[in-house]
Amino acid sequence: MLKVSLTVMKTALITGVNGQDGSYLSELLVEKGYSVAGIVKSNSTAETPFTRIDDVRSHLELFYADVTDLASLTRVIREVSPDEIYNLAAQSHVRVSFDQPFLTVQTAAVGALNIFEAVRLEKPDTRVYQASSSEMFGTSTDADGFQREDTRMQPASPYACAKLFAYHIARNYRSAYNLFISNGILFNHESPRRGTNFVTSKVCKEAVRIKYGLTDTLELGNTLARRDWGHAKDYVRAMWMILQHDTPDDFVCATGVLHSIAELVEYVFSRLEMDVNDVVKVNPRLLRPEDKHAPCGDATKIHETLGWKREYTFETMLDEMIDFWLAELKPKNS
Ligand code: GDD
Repeated sequence: MLKVSLTVMKTALITGVNGQDGSYLSELLVEKGYSVAGIVKSNSTAETPFTRIDDVRSHLELFYADVTDLASLTRVIREVSPDEIYNLAAQSHVRVSFDQPFLTVQTAAVGALNIFEAVRLEKPDTRVYQASSSEMFGTSTDADGFQREDTRMQPASPYACAKLFAYHIARNYRSAYNLFISNGILFNHESPRRGTNFVTSKVCKEAVRIKYGLTDTLELGNTLARRDWGHAKDYVRAMWMILQHDTPDDFVCATGVLHSIAELVEYVFSRLEMDVNDVVKVNPRLLRPEDKHAPCGDATKIHETLGWKREYTFETMLDEMIDFWLAELKPKNS
């Protein structure tokens, strides 16, 4: 049950409000007493896109608009007059960005520029959070293997290139027009609300389906790939903290711990008391044209400047995801 503070402090506008991060962020902001508006894309199947925000929906004001449509953004910003905007909308799947590079650039790069331009023209005192990504670093790391705010960026996918444009134009608008725009450079963050086209959710869901006898294989791409995985709930708290800082700035948000896909699979299967042998099949179609990097973030700056700390570990995050799928897929008659 959502606890709602009675004093309305500020108004926030969230793009991508019905995504994983948008849904957790809207719950956090409603609990803090914000008046929260969200931008959703028009979709011909009206029922499904809102499931993640079911619990909080009665507290939200939703607008049909799109980050690729500047006129619609301007209209919403004029109407809502937000104190804070969180720009979370984009085609965010790295593999898909190789198939749909133009869509990815339109949403992740031009979409961000549209937000900044609408803010500049309509309400320049709005604080803007830009969802930047660890993917912008690509294979580049500092000598110790970590990636930090000042690590050289070397994007390795259309998605990462688009995010890098948005990151730079955010900084450019910040200095050229004195706007309060901050980049959160977030490493992978997961939860039960993560789409099953991302690897953590896919592994948890498919392992539970195997447990329940609904399938017998788990098809994956590169199982040697490694990632720095945190929980989305911890990371949306970081987004809010970044906008409460006295100056606009850029922050890495990460756990600093790497795990491989193989380790992820092992943990999930052992938690479900299943043997992983002969179950995992590598499907070459799931491999990516470039996937050599192992992004591992150093979150010292956000720890020391904003006092951000994560609450979840890799294991507690996965436990929550496994439990979600066990309940979600539980056979009706058991
Ligand atoms: N999705 C997927 N499906 N990934 C697989 C699979 C599979 O079947 N098998 C192996 N992988 C590997 C991918 O090749 C990649 O190396 C790794 O698992 C993680 O893939 P994803 O979960 O799709 O996430 P991502 O790291 O590409 O990107 C996510 O994190 C970024 C950093 O926060 C996305 O959320 C991005 O939008 C985000 O910017």
